[in-house]
Amino acid sequence: MSNVKTIIDSNKERYLSELFELLRIPSVSADSRHKDDVRRTAVFVQKKLQDAGAGHVELMETGGHPIVYGEKIVDPKKPTVLVYGHYDVQPPDPLDLWTSPPFEPTVKDGKIYARGSCDDKGQVYMHIKALEIMMQEKSMHCNIKFMIEGEEEVGSANLGAFVKANKNKLKADVILISDTALISLNQPSITVGLRGLSYMEVQVTGPNRDLHSGVYGGAVANPANVLASMIASLHDEKGRVTIPGFYNDVAELTSADRKALNNAPFDLEDYKKDLGIDEVSGEKGFTTLERTGIRPTLDVNGIWGGYTGEGAKTVLPSVASAKISMRLVPNQKPDDITALFTKHILSIAPKTVKVKVTAHHGGEAAVTPTDSAAFMAATRAFEEVWGKTPIPTRDGGSIPIVALFKKELGLDTVLMGFGLDSDALHSPNEHYGIKNFLIGIETIVAFHKHFGA
Ligand code: BES
Ligand code: MN
Ligand code: MN
Repeated sequence: MSNVKTIIDSNKERYLSELFELLRIPSVSADSRHKDDVRRTAVFVQKKLQDAGAGHVELMETGGHPIVYGEKIVDPKKPTVLVYGHYDVQPPDPLDLWTSPPFEPTVKDGKIYARGSCDDKGQVYMHIKALEIMMQEKSMHCNIKFMIEGEEEVGSANLGAFVKANKNKLKADVILISDTALISLNQPSITVGLRGLSYMEVQVTGPNRDLHSGVYGGAVANPANVLASMIASLHDEKGRVTIPGFYNDVAELTSADRKALNNAPFDLEDYKKDLGIDEVSGEKGFTTLERTGIRPTLDVNGIWGGYTGEGAKTVLPSVASAKISMRLVPNQKPDDITALFTKHILSIAPKTVKVKVTAHHGGEAAVTPTDSAAFMAATRAFEEVWGKTPIPTRDGGSIPIVALFKKELGLDTVLMGFGLDSDALHSPNEHYGIKNFLIGIETIVAFHKHFGA
């Protein structure tokens, strides 16, 4: 066993009990009732960074939840790694579908079940323990900076200003993020692409009050019916988005790149089985890996209006609404897509209703280089610890900060995530493999060694 592996092995119970403490704090950034919990989580992360040996750690205030900033500069001549992650989590809803309480970490089949276990507290904690080990072993091959934010799950509204105002502080040679997924524990991978996002809300208003659906039904436009048919018209029979101009800026991959992408191990039968579906669906002419990796998409995230309580109430709603996200790919600009969406929705709205379109957050897609020293270091780290060469993959999720870091700091990112797509991120019963957590720590330590060299 390598020295690092031995250390991890003999300390794993403590690492886990510390992580469980972190997972018990409900840092739901979207819910103002949890404001104090979010701050408590930041303080906890600050303390743990200090304990791990970061010389200087502070809570930095923003217009929203604080950012934890920490650093350990061992030698200005050594390269500097800036670790980014988030300590906030998604709301746990729907609560009744959890098999154990979301904020009481529970181990089942070698996996930690808790909100944030994988996204992203568990993955942030690997970096804190990696620092602890490197400090204990006096083997800091790089300087290290930490920037752990508390608003990632709500669109990082204050992050742009923070990065702009702290360019000097954030000076580094590479950004390292663990907030993505591996192909599997048998096949490591490094994410080299993330999708962008434009998140919208549409509100359709009809009559000035809810109406008796018998007295008025058929004579007055029903906002729920109107909204449903507008949404249905946003895809054609080929599964393409019908918003004019939506595909204008989409970067098309060369056939060699498409081939490489589809060479990654992927079992469609396992995929369907995991999700409990009989068939997949999406844009015609593209594989599942392409549909989530390199194609832009549009999805309803929530839709409501009228009566949704117990039993039946005959009512024609006055208002119906939907939250709609569009996942974007390289070269699509979130602001352009937001404008195209708004214009199109207003253009298809019938005169029988009033339609309001609002933009929530957005972010650009990102592609990271595969020929950098940092990517090489990550590759070596996986080879050393896993005995296998990692495959580059494109993930469908979004981490808008990656494009922002490139733009504001000129820095490339290495996306060294250790989760799995099946970890139920944002869903009930989110979990994270203890194996993933422990081997993640080991791989991160190896990354610092190789990047330092
Ligand atoms: N960690 C995820 C993003 C992710 C998940 C990337 C899986 C790759 C694989 C992150 O916390 C997240 O959920 N991001 C949001 C975007 C944000 C602007 C709210 C997302 O993708 O919905
Ligand atoms: Mn995340
Ligand atoms: Mn998330």
